[in-house]
Amino acid sequence: MDGREDWVDIGSAEALAQTPLRRVEARSTSLAVSCRDGVFGAVSNACNHVGGPLGEGALDGDYITCPWHQWKFHRVTGKGEPGFEADAVPSFPVRVDSGRLQVNLAAPTRRTKQPHDPHSLARKIERAPGPLRLAGLSTTAMDPKNPRFSGSDHLLEAALESAKASGAETQLIRLNDLSFRACEGYYSKAAHACTWPCSITQMDPDDQLDRVYEALVHWADAVIVSTPIRWGAASSLYFRMAERLNCVQNAITTHNRVLIRNKVAGFIIVGGQDNIQGVAGQMLGFFAELGFLFPQFPYVAHSRGWSREDMEENVRIVQDSAELAQGAGELAQRCLHLAERLITTDHTPGRIMRGGRKAFPVAHKTKREANANE
Ligand code: FES
Repeated sequence: MDGREDWVDIGSAEALAQTPLRRVEARSTSLAVSCRDGVFGAVSNACNHVGGPLGEGALDGDYITCPWHQWKFHRVTGKGEPGFEADAVPSFPVRVDSGRLQVNLAAPTRRTKQPHDPHSLARKIERAPGPLRLAGLSTTAMDPKNPRFSGSDHLLEAALESAKASGAETQLIRLNDLSFRACEGYYSKAAHACTWPCSITQMDPDDQLDRVYEALVHWADAVIVSTPIRWGAASSLYFRMAERLNCVQNAITTHNRVLIRNKVAGFIIVGGQDNIQGVAGQMLGFFAELGFLFPQFPYVAHSRGWSREDMEENVRIVQDSAELAQGAGELAQRCLHLAERLITTDHTPGRIMRGGRKAFPVAHKTKREANANE
C-alpha cells in the first residue's frame, strides 16, 4: 500500500459476510468480494485470462475459481494459484468501520501477467505457399476393431484420389479416430468465454480436435465433409464436431474476425433412407456461418428412399457405382477450382460486421480493466 486512500463504503459487513463470494460495484470498479472465516477480501472482478467475472465464480479454499475457464486467484492477495503467482489480479485493501465494509480504491496492487505461450492454433492465419490443398473429413462412426464398408467414406476417398491426381495435396481426417470432448457450452456462460482457439483445446492437451481446427483454419483451401444419414440427419460425430466449431464462428460475433477466408466446402451424403436435402441444408447453412464458400452443386449424395431398406443392396450399389465415384471426384475438382479463384482474387474479408448485430459489449469489465487486458 502506497499511502493513497479513497475508502468506499460497499455495504453492511454483516450482510456481506453471509455470501462467500460476490460481485460488487464500487463506483466504476467491479470487485470480487469474498468472506471466509470472518476475513474479507476484495480483488478485481476481471480475470486475467479473457476477463471472466471472478465474483461469479466459486471459492476453493482461499482461491477464487473463475467461472469461465477455472483459472484461480487468491481472494485476498489476487495472486494466481501456486506455480502461477506471477499472474495476479489487482487486490484492494479492505476494512470494517462501524459495521460497514470499506474498500480502498486508491491503492490496488498491480495486475501482472505471467507470460503464457500462445497455443499454436492462435498463430496468424496465412496461406502457406504450395499446391492446392483438400482436406477430407469423415464423420461416420464405427468400431475401429471391426471396421465395415462405409459408403460415405468410400466416396470421400474417391474425391481425395481425384484431387491428388490433379496435383493437389490431400489429407484425410476421420473423426472416428480422434478422441475429443463434446462442446461444454462456454458460449452459454458468455460469448467471450468461447475463445479462439477453443477453450477445451487450450486447456486439454489430450483433446484431439486440434487436428480439425488446424486443417480447416490453417491448412486446407477446400474441405469435403462426408456423412451417413442417421435418422434424417448428419452423423452424431458430425454434430459433436460442429458444436466445437462454435469458436470459429464466435470469433466473428465477439471480434468481427473472420478465421475462414478464401476457403471452399463440399459435402458427401449417403443414406439408406432419404432426407438428403435436409442434411445438405443443415451442413450448407452451418459451413456458410463459418465463412466457407461453395461451388456450384456443392454436394453429391446417394439414397434409395423409404421403400428400399435392403441395406446390403444399398452398400453394394455405392461400392459398385462408377457414377457416384466420378461425381465425388468432380465435386473435389469444383471445390479446388473455386478455391484457386478465391486465393487468386483474395476478396473475402478478414473482418466483418454481422448484419444487424450490435457491437458486442464486454459486460464484465470496466473500461480501465478492459484496457488492462488488451
Ligand atoms: S479463466 Fe477466467 S476468463 Fe478464462
